[in-house]
Amino acid sequence: MFITFEGIDRSGKSTQAILLHNYLSGIGYRTKLIREPGGTRVSEKIRKILLDKSCKPMDFLTEFLLFSASRKQLTEEVIKPCLNQGVIVICDRYFDSSTAYQGYGGKVDMKIISMVNKISSAGVKPDLTFLIDITYPESIKRKGLMSSSNDRIEDRRAGYFNKVIKGYRELAKVNSRIVKLNGLKPVNEIHNKIKLLITGKLKSLS
Ligand code: TYD
Repeated sequence: MFITFEGIDRSGKSTQAILLHNYLSGIGYRTKLIREPGGTRVSEKIRKILLDKSCKPMDFLTEFLLFSASRKQLTEEVIKPCLNQGVIVICDRYFDSSTAYQGYGGKVDMKIISMVNKISSAGVKPDLTFLIDITYPESIKRKGLMSSSNDRIEDRRAGYFNKVIKGYRELAKVNSRIVKLNGLKPVNEIHNKIKLLITGKLKSLS
């Protein structure tokens, strides 16, 4: 089973991915937690370029192709072998991030996005995707509570992130595998919902 988490920066998706990983491994499932971009030697190097503030300007299609190259390597080196061995893979971001950030946010042609997403994922599709939905003001409010500085992508303005959020919501409307969850709810309440949905899905697959 392949589970992905999506949402804008500071939506809480990484926290939820870790909680789910701990829960599933705690009840005896073999699980692998990974994040995008990254997860292999090559993908981590590509990640550095993508997030480096000195790598400007970067064309949105260039950016998309770099994310896709990182994804292809991660899929071949980690995701496919794990899934073949029956390991549950939990990935913090996957190709929906590209559709939202480079497609809806960066206006890369959706036909190109869809075609390259198929290639970079080698046909592997998440069984279930959790979209942790928050607003841009909430993301900024949470940022104020943290000390980290912006990376290249976080440097973008409100208009960009509002397009990304809108894009994610549209994706959730047309894809039944994407479950939209209110990221303003308490962490534990969101985790409990995810546990319920996963339990149902695991039952239906067994
Ligand atoms: P990261 O520090 O991992 O952020 P987060 O914890 O929010 O996932 O940085 C990844 C950044 O890359 C994040 O701003 C989202 C962006 N991104 C894209 O624009 N397109 C993509 O396809 C992916 C995977 C990530």
